[in-house]
Amino acid sequence: MTEHRIPLAGVIGNPVAHSRSPRLHRHWLRTYGIEGDYLPLHVTEDHLAQVLRALPHMGFVGVNVTIPHKVAVLQIADHISDRATLIGAANTLIFRKDGKIHADNTDGYGFISNLRQHVPDWSPQSAPSVVFGAGGAARAVIVSLIDAGAPLIHLANRTRPKAEALRDEFGARIQVVDWVQAGNVLEAAGTVINTTSLGMVGQSEFRVPLDGLRPGTVVTDLVYTPLRTRLLDEAEAAGCITVDGLGMLLHQGVPGFERWFGVRPEVNDATRAAVLA
Ligand code: ATR
Repeated sequence: MTEHRIPLAGVIGNPVAHSRSPRLHRHWLRTYGIEGDYLPLHVTEDHLAQVLRALPHMGFVGVNVTIPHKVAVLQIADHISDRATLIGAANTLIFRKDGKIHADNTDGYGFISNLRQHVPDWSPQSAPSVVFGAGGAARAVIVSLIDAGAPLIHLANRTRPKAEALRDEFGARIQVVDWVQAGNVLEAAGTVINTTSLGMVGQSEFRVPLDGLRPGTVVTDLVYTPLRTRLLDEAEAAGCITVDGLGMLLHQGVPGFERWFGVRPEVNDATRAAVLA
């Protein structure tokens, strides 16, 4: 007789107490009547490998990975998806029945799905995109934009060499613009994305001049605390279509939940409410 086991998942980070993922996945577990749980797991760098090897032996079917472990887990995983390889980081691990750890990155998927849900006819193909920031989040956004057929991505970062390094890595569809000149490329943009932490509660404001923004441009902010950032407010006042960043967090959780618990969860108003509660 096979023993009845309750599947567990969680999020590994340091710090991790602030993570909204437990609310998200517990909401879905309740919604679909799945017996299981999802826990915040505080793990330091020096114990990461040990913890990941042990978790499958205590009922864990996989975990999400957050700061500061997203890059380090690639060294520990046995299989890495193409998109995680391209992005150079993983946010979702699947503990397979054969004992192997599969690493994936669903951040870009979450980014694209969020835009598609809120702007059904959105496409990055018809006009240039403008990306602010060149850190880990920007990598996921850029990989997914290129994958979705973006012909041209203007990339602006405070530290210009980091943007140039991304252009060298991802190719000629990326055009680096100076941070202080970035306002000039907004006029022709179809999509504008802030991937920096500017505008987040406790951080500096996002202060790029936005008067170049045109009605109809899709503007999204990966910052979701607050939900309505100055960038989104100003973009809305300029007639742009704005999409807040909470949806990216919700959508990036979908592939992991499906692989771990066998149900593809829906992202809807109830999901948002559960995470905001
Ligand atoms: P994440 O994984 O969230 O992308 P990250 O890799 O630390 O985090 O990247 C943070 C991004 O926010 C970077 O693009 C950073 O710019 P620098 O490369 O110049 O550091 C950007 N950022 C953070 N604080 C900023 C500020 N005060 N002004 C402009 N950009 C800022």
